[in-house]
Amino acid sequence: MPGLYLHFPFCKQACHYCNFYFSTSAKNKPQLIQALKKELHLRRASQSAPLESIYFGGGSPSLLSLSDLEEILTVIRETYALAASPEITLELNPDDGNTAYLKGLKQLGINRLSVGVQSFLDRDLQLMHRVHTARESEEVLGEVATLFENFSVDLIYGNPQSSLKEWQQTMAKALSYNPPHISAYALTVEPKTVLAHRVKNNLISLLDDELVQAQYDDLVYTLTNRGFRNYEFSNFAQAGYYAVNNSSYWQGKPYMGIGPSAHSYDGAFLRSWNISSTTKYIQAIEENRLPQETETLTRKDRFNEYIMTGLRTEWGVSLQQVNREFGPQYGEYLEKQAEQQIQAHRLFWDGDILRIPVKARFLSDGIAAELFLVNLV
Ligand SMILES: C[S@@+](CC[C@H](N)C(=O)[O-])C[C@H]1O[C@@H](n2cnc3c(N)ncnc32)[C@H](O)[C@@H]1O
Ligand code: SF4
Repeated sequence: MPGLYLHFPFCKQACHYCNFYFSTSAKNKPQLIQALKKELHLRRASQSAPLESIYFGGGSPSLLSLSDLEEILTVIRETYALAASPEITLELNPDDGNTAYLKGLKQLGINRLSVGVQSFLDRDLQLMHRVHTARESEEVLGEVATLFENFSVDLIYGNPQSSLKEWQQTMAKALSYNPPHISAYALTVEPKTVLAHRVKNNLISLLDDELVQAQYDDLVYTLTNRGFRNYEFSNFAQAGYYAVNNSSYWQGKPYMGIGPSAHSYDGAFLRSWNISSTTKYIQAIEENRLPQETETLTRKDRFNEYIMTGLRTEWGVSLQQVNREFGPQYGEYLEKQAEQQIQAHRLFWDGDILRIPVKARFLSDGIAAELFLVNLV
């Protein structure tokens, strides 16, 4: 089922680890909002099936006012067919979540919030250069948990200087709000970030890999004991609360991305992405042009992507699906490549589904890479 993603490329302050597309100068904000609405119109013909999910991501979409959001949602409702009760998510930065705003979001039909808490330790937040404090996160989560049935707490583990005990305290604090969903990402050193610069100049030492893995393993252990399903490597949900939007990415379903840098996928061979420049994006849309680049995926690309996402999710990699979608040569290749990993207890067959055992889950990406097809069969 199709999903709609809208990218809002402004933030109050640059987090030192982040290389998503964003700017800290919001001078183009009114023009950007007009352009988002116009792109929704320009692309209406490419999307006829009802939308199952709408996702306001960024950047910091919680910098959109209620009236901006209302205008955008009105265009979506007037221009696209919607499923009976679509998931409508907004990424909320804790410093933006006052009571009136949260109530207003709910009234607009936004029924899921993804709250960017990252850590409940101010030392971590300062290292990350987050704009909010742990106290602000606690206050906003208290309100979010009262007002919204569906919300996610987003955390980062593997922070420099962090101990296993501190990570356990952060998880316990997050769980005290009974969130139906938690996302937890390992701190990644992305190129061209302040974090990368500091690591390169020995101003920050990263956590040892073993401690990062210990934090991840403890995350899986703690949350599965609390009834969460680890349905994707970094994502945990109670039954009935899997993220519809993100699941559609992992299941190879079509989605449409609106806004600078947003990606789209037709569910088959075509992927496209908008230009990562707000100025150029606005200019193109004002001239009725879509500032997009497109790539046609080969069968090999799609096979490798299916292996990567399949092994990261609870749906695994289905041999039957590989044979059906890619052909028996691919199935034979998969079986042969998997053998060594199975001997090493890093993969197992669950009927016709290939999976990674829990104790090897932290190594998922490396294991998947061993199965990639490098040369065309
Ligand atoms: C790009 S942010 C957008 C939402 C919102 N602005 C926020 O900060 O929560 C989405 C998620 O990606 C995470 N993220 C971005 N860069 C990351 C990195 N280098 N390592 C780990 N997580 C990262 C953020 O912490 C956040 O939870
Ligand atoms: S993590 Fe979120 S708030 Fe921080 S710079 Fe990236 S998009 Fe902006």
